[in-house]
Amino acid sequence: MKFELTSEQELIRKTAREFAEQEIVPHAAQWDRESRFPAEVVEKLGELGFMGVSVPQEWGGAGLDTVSYILAAEQISWGDASCGVIMSVNNSLACWPLVRYGTDAQKAKWLTPLAKGEKLGAYCLSEPQAGTDAAAQRTVARKVGGGYVINGTKNFITNGANADTLIVYTMTDIEKGHRGITAFVVDAKAKGVVVAHTEKKMGIRASDTAQIVFEDVEVDDDQLLGDEHNGFKVAMQTLDGGRIGIAAQALGIGQAALEHSIRYSKEREQFGRPIGQFQAIQFKIADMAMRLEAARLLTYRAAAVKDTGVRHSKESAMAKLFSSTTAVHCAEEAVQIFGGNGYSKEYPVEKLMRDAKICDIYEGTNEVQRMVIAASVME
Ligand code: CAA
Repeated sequence: MKFELTSEQELIRKTAREFAEQEIVPHAAQWDRESRFPAEVVEKLGELGFMGVSVPQEWGGAGLDTVSYILAAEQISWGDASCGVIMSVNNSLACWPLVRYGTDAQKAKWLTPLAKGEKLGAYCLSEPQAGTDAAAQRTVARKVGGGYVINGTKNFITNGANADTLIVYTMTDIEKGHRGITAFVVDAKAKGVVVAHTEKKMGIRASDTAQIVFEDVEVDDDQLLGDEHNGFKVAMQTLDGGRIGIAAQALGIGQAALEHSIRYSKEREQFGRPIGQFQAIQFKIADMAMRLEAARLLTYRAAAVKDTGVRHSKESAMAKLFSSTTAVHCAEEAVQIFGGNGYSKEYPVEKLMRDAKICDIYEGTNEVQRMVIAASVME
């Protein structure tokens, strides 16, 4: 068992950290205040190869392993969780299903611009009545001539308002339940694709979350991704990868909370000494560091298992669940260590607390991760 990163992985981590320090951290509070999508950062992430880290080079990606992708996602999220999820959704939820299930023609047309960061992707699974119960969806793709016509409403779509390319899950045989779901790759600018509204959110406010309505959207047969009626499997396998990306996002948020806490506790004085000299503060910092290290091991291991090509639902669920709760814990403790200042927008940690909470919810709630883990260990 080896715990060291390769020199290539270490370089990716360092490059992402420096990029986050220089291009993200100085602006993150303003983007959050203004709920502004950081298009200029997304463009630069594309130039660095971070929008398609594990996509083969022949399809415009960086051709690196999942561990490298996770290292980059962690550091970008350390800079700003919104930038982290924009990147993660493009890599995990838009590029990956095209790499795994796309034809060469689909890869050339749809995947390559996504992996280069020239276009942005989104993943359309959830619906108003189908969140955790993803198989209960009602978006329909009706067969007509040489294609299909899609009608329905998709909710909580990260990148939805800025995306160019959508991976859309539809019912092609509603009687068959999850065995009647089919995935399509859809042009977000196609006639009938309407961004109905964007959510006003507690955190990750620089990343957009949209409701998208599909009104008689015509797609050709060659936009079908994978086999007809195999879409639920495509969706679930995609989320197995996506959940490692969210675990990495949570690590970045938690690490930022830890670093702010250490810095502040050395500077802030009460009772004539820095508060970091009190055990009450030291114990909080020790627990944050320990939990983060454990979360990191679970997350990197899930990424390494994914790279072996075997099913990794359990490993991903454990990584996401543990990392998310760790991020929330670290952010809350950071606010507590900062005291009244922690509750103020003048200081950076209240944003971390707002950003961390979504990790408990999207790409499968903590409860869903427990369902996946239990199903795996009890089978
Ligand atoms: N890999 C391969 N196949 C899988 C699989 C996986 N990870 N998970 C399930 N399957 C297969 C099963 O083997 C089963 O196959 P058969 O039909 O051959 O028997 C089939 O799929 C159905 O499986 P389940 O009976 O387990 O399905 P279920 O309906 O009970 O659902 C669930 C299980 C875990 C609750 C699942 O629905 C789930 O993960 N729900 C949460 C969805 C989710 O994460 N939504 C977030 C969407 S993205 C988002 O957050 C917004 C964004 O933009 C970031």
